[in-house]
Amino acid sequence: MTQETVFTYGAPALKFGAGASEEIGHDLASYDVRRVLVVTDPGVAATGHPQRVADLVAAQGIDAVVFDRAHVEPTDASLVEAVEFARDNGPWDAFVAVGGGSAIDTAKAVNLLTSNPGELMDYVNAPVGKARAPQHPLKPLVAVPTTTGTGSESTTICVLDVVSLKVKTGISHPRLRPTLAVVDPRLTATQPAGVTAAAGMDILCHALESWTARPFDAYPRKAPEQRVPYCGANPVADMWAEKALTLLASSFRRAVHHGDDEQAREQMALAATFAGMGFGNAGVHIPHANAYPIAGRVKEFRPEGYPHDEPMVPHGMAVSLTAPEAFRFTFDASPERHVRAAELLGGDDRPDDARDFLPAVLTRLMHDIGIPNGIGAVGYDEGDVDDLVEGAVKQQRLLATAPKEVTEDDLAGILNESLELW
Ligand SMILES: NC(=O)c1ccc[n+]([C@@H]2O[C@H](COP(=O)([O-])OP(=O)(O)OC[C@H]3O[C@@H](n4cnc5c(N)ncnc54)[C@H](O)[C@@H]3O)[C@@H](O)[C@H]2O)c1
Ligand SMILES: [Zn+2]
Repeated sequence: MTQETVFTYGAPALKFGAGASEEIGHDLASYDVRRVLVVTDPGVAATGHPQRVADLVAAQGIDAVVFDRAHVEPTDASLVEAVEFARDNGPWDAFVAVGGGSAIDTAKAVNLLTSNPGELMDYVNAPVGKARAPQHPLKPLVAVPTTTGTGSESTTICVLDVVSLKVKTGISHPRLRPTLAVVDPRLTATQPAGVTAAAGMDILCHALESWTARPFDAYPRKAPEQRVPYCGANPVADMWAEKALTLLASSFRRAVHHGDDEQAREQMALAATFAGMGFGNAGVHIPHANAYPIAGRVKEFRPEGYPHDEPMVPHGMAVSLTAPEAFRFTFDASPERHVRAAELLGGDDRPDDARDFLPAVLTRLMHDIGIPNGIGAVGYDEGDVDDLVEGAVKQQRLLATAPKEVTEDDLAGILNESLELW
């Protein structure tokens, strides 16, 4: 095998800080646009932030229309509805997404399918979809996150739930990456505590999974046309991940329990941005692969802080539930990185067996911020494990980023040990 010697790094332009969202009208005017669609979901619309952004855009003489029906955790049907709205009311010169990963990912799909021919499933990752690459460049997309979580404002991915197949998958292409990320921590202060906790666990897992991912130079050498956005752990992504862990250590509990703590909100927003810039290039692995079936096969669980009209296991919560056991499993691939991560997260009482250090730090944190106690607490039992394994092994793109080989038995072991965490 010829070893890989090259890694890549991509990121959008970034404007960060309290008040940054007030400058969007000015920023959009510099793109020479006339009509803009602002994409959001009903919960975020109720905060007034999206309309405020639309008004600032309109003040620059740009026509701004708000679409406020993005689905919380987009489905194939919800993305098609948003695309149809945009096609019926277009053309648009640019898009602005105001919301969490759900609104930002919806705007990515709308941008893709109003700039390129074909339908949603043509572009969804294989084997669920046809994994077609967009032929034409997309329009400018300004992403304005209102959660501290996904990092979607800097990534090349759009995640969706294909309801008929009970599977979560995505669209992944460098052209989906937003043009500009505007991160204004003030917009995140209204996040309910339950959203802050789940989305914050998403940040934490993005940082930990990219930091422990298979290193870029452990893959065979790729030809230029084979390069993918996720290239494995590398020195640039490592830097973002390490800093995100330090920020989380000082701010996560405070942001959940004292939502009006401006400094904690700002540090969480920085952590989300940093982790997004890291994992958006390095990739994520086992906890994210497991999260897809945990969220996709939900039974009756309805979390605090989220819309109550349908059952759901929010993305960040689903990711976190198997993380402690996944990192116990990956420990021997890079013991020093697992120990260092636990230290960066503020862990001080090191257990006798270093393998237990990071899992112990994670479960203590999850307990403190109100994350359910394992996959059992969101409705699964031993009888569901085979089904969950079957869903997780389909995420080969993610499992290929794990630092060691993962068999179905390994996944079953991790899921069984995650039924109850403390
Ligand atoms: N594209 C990516 O890179 C990427 C990465 C990770 C996750 N995701 C996806 O993103 C989605 C999850 O996004 P998320 O965790 O950011 O949450 P979200 O967008 O689903 O929002 C969660 C809830 O919080 C509400 N909310 C959001 N911001 C608020 C605010 N400031 N004030 C009051 N309420 C607010 C929303 O209305 C919603 O009810 C999932 O579909 C997940 O799969 C995408
Ligand atoms: Zn995630």
